[in-house]
Amino acid sequence: MARIALVTGAGAGIGRACSLRLARNGMAVGVLDIDFESCKRVVAEIEAAGGKAIALQASVADRGQVTAAVAKLRSAFGPITVVVNNAGITGFVPFEEITDDAWDRMMEINLKGTFIVTQVVLPDMKAEKWGRIINISSSSAQTGAIRMAHYSASKGAIVTLTRSLAQELGPLGITVNNIPPGSVMNTLMSEANRERFQLPMDVLLASIPVKRTGEPEDIANACAWLASEDSGYVTGQTIGVNGGRVVT
Ligand SMILES: NC(=O)c1ccc[n+]([C@@H]2O[C@H](COP(=O)([O-])OP(=O)(O)OC[C@H]3O[C@@H](n4cnc5c(N)ncnc54)[C@H](O)[C@@H]3O)[C@@H](O)[C@H]2O)c1
Repeated sequence: MARIALVTGAGAGIGRACSLRLARNGMAVGVLDIDFESCKRVVAEIEAAGGKAIALQASVADRGQVTAAVAKLRSAFGPITVVVNNAGITGFVPFEEITDDAWDRMMEINLKGTFIVTQVVLPDMKAEKWGRIINISSSSAQTGAIRMAHYSASKGAIVTLTRSLAQELGPLGITVNNIPPGSVMNTLMSEANRERFQLPMDVLLASIPVKRTGEPEDIANACAWLASEDSGYVTGQTIGVNGGRVVT
């Protein structure tokens, strides 16, 4: 059965890779991002490969924009039964220097955005009695991270949101899981992180058992499985995709 998926933060990095992969698996994809030009580029890539997609501009933190985008996706392709809550921002600042505004913005986009998108899409999943909610958290939610208290707190809350929703929505045929990426290169965020941390590659690699950094496609592979029929007995889980860097 052809499924309809919504991927947020889909114009770049991990969201782009998840969109391309779900489309390759036969899903029609709503490519949602605050940056519309990047959405259109990803849609063109999907269509060039023979897939189906639509570009959707919205901020995940704006319920009105999300509702309009979801309506557009539904009328283009049908009910949405897969959502990848991937849109996110990061920040590096000592704890004492985090302003109220920076704290609120982090929570608004990373956490409230996940809440809003999930709530807006949920009626479709309930009607279909089938759904897959995949939240992209962060390995910092598992370990904590220096100068990222607001970021890691927002991501930790996504893990707990995942567990709560899994219990609430399981009886409705909807699974909810999260993927906490670690050290995924070739994304806008990871390039910014590396510039700020200037962590030498040999130091980073020494902490990763499989001896390579992650690629967006590594996350997309796990996402594709969680979005499939095959993962139906998996819910409320944290599926670490981090080369073994974090083992819990
Ligand atoms: N790259 C990593 O190593 C890593 C590690 C841990 C967690 N993550 C998480 O993975 C997700 C994707 O990260 P990435 O590295 O691909 O980042 P990225 O910066 O390359 O992509 C994020 C995308 O989200 C979009 N976006 C930002 N704010 C938005 C908003 N309000 N509404 C809609 N779209 C918005 C951006 O325009 C961008 O296209 C994020 O949630 C991030 O926290 C990434």
